[in-house]
Amino acid sequence: RPVTLVTSDGERLEFGCAPGRSVLEAAAEAGAALPASCKQGTCGSCHASVAEGDYELGAHSPAALPPERRAAGEVLLCRTFPRGPLSVTLPYDGSRILRGGIPRRQAVIVALETVACETVRLELRAEPTEDGGTDCQFDPGQFVELQVPGHDAKRAYSLANTGNWEGRMEFYIRLRPGGLFSTYLRERARPGQTLTAFGPQGAFGLRETGLRPRWFVAGGTGLAPLLSMVRHMAEWQEPQPARLLLGVNTEEEVFGTAELDAVAAELPGFSHRVCVWRPGPSWQGPVGTPADLLAADLAEAPAAPDIYVCGPPPMVDAVVQVAARAGVPAEHVFYERFLPT
Ligand code: FES
Repeated sequence: RPVTLVTSDGERLEFGCAPGRSVLEAAAEAGAALPASCKQGTCGSCHASVAEGDYELGAHSPAALPPERRAAGEVLLCRTFPRGPLSVTLPYDGSRILRGGIPRRQAVIVALETVACETVRLELRAEPTEDGGTDCQFDPGQFVELQVPGHDAKRAYSLANTGNWEGRMEFYIRLRPGGLFSTYLRERARPGQTLTAFGPQGAFGLRETGLRPRWFVAGGTGLAPLLSMVRHMAEWQEPQPARLLLGVNTEEEVFGTAELDAVAAELPGFSHRVCVWRPGPSWQGPVGTPADLLAADLAEAPAAPDIYVCGPPPMVDAVVQVAARAGVPAEHVFYERFLPT
């Protein structure tokens, strides 16, 4: 069944899709790895719009594709099975499609430290490529998959730093009870060990929308890709006014404030606030969720900003609803959900 994909910058990809194969799988078999994460219909990162053609949409989470967006022709490509010729519009440009598969790199652990309750900072340095390249280039908002040592399984983590010439990759990882990679980090990981990294991947990232203010809303380690974005803005001295709202459950989970202070020192027009949902008696800052902070800020905003959101699905959904209620157009809201595997 012939499939045509058209990127936001007008590039066309054409390939066949065998019965029983999803569009995402068929594209990968044709040498084009499209942005995707869970590959099981729950994260929403492979969403796109069908322009023409008949298809079957397999089981998926309504959080990843709400019914009204499904009715409007939006699909999840990991769950889209063509019934005939299919034409699909992709919401990203051709640079986000990895030709020849997902790059693979060996990378050495250079730092592993606890930064908050059940949260670690992991820093890797990629080993030189076959042609001697030491750099590690990626767009802010992208992720890599790290293979769990001794297993076939991989886990996706967003990069918190920015592309660089030294091969550095920085991650903030929430340790999950019984999680494969979490258990590795808790029990066996040590500086000097080598991991296999697949990427960079993903379509989440900064959009060029002129001088519209950029607001970033993070839940927990959903801060990582947003930290990468504001660090990028600081490096390039981008002129949009920017603010970042970070929410955590308890004050023991607060992290990243020194890094955000460093961005604020370099980027005029940037501010950040941290809120705690269930604070202890010593917490002096805002109480509530980042969606609460966002609602209050939007009520006073003279014009709708662009909003970038990353965190657990309920938090992302709450922020998307707050933005919609405040009249922020849906096309100003960009998000990525963090899902435990
Ligand atoms: Fe398709 Fe996650 S990759 S929904």
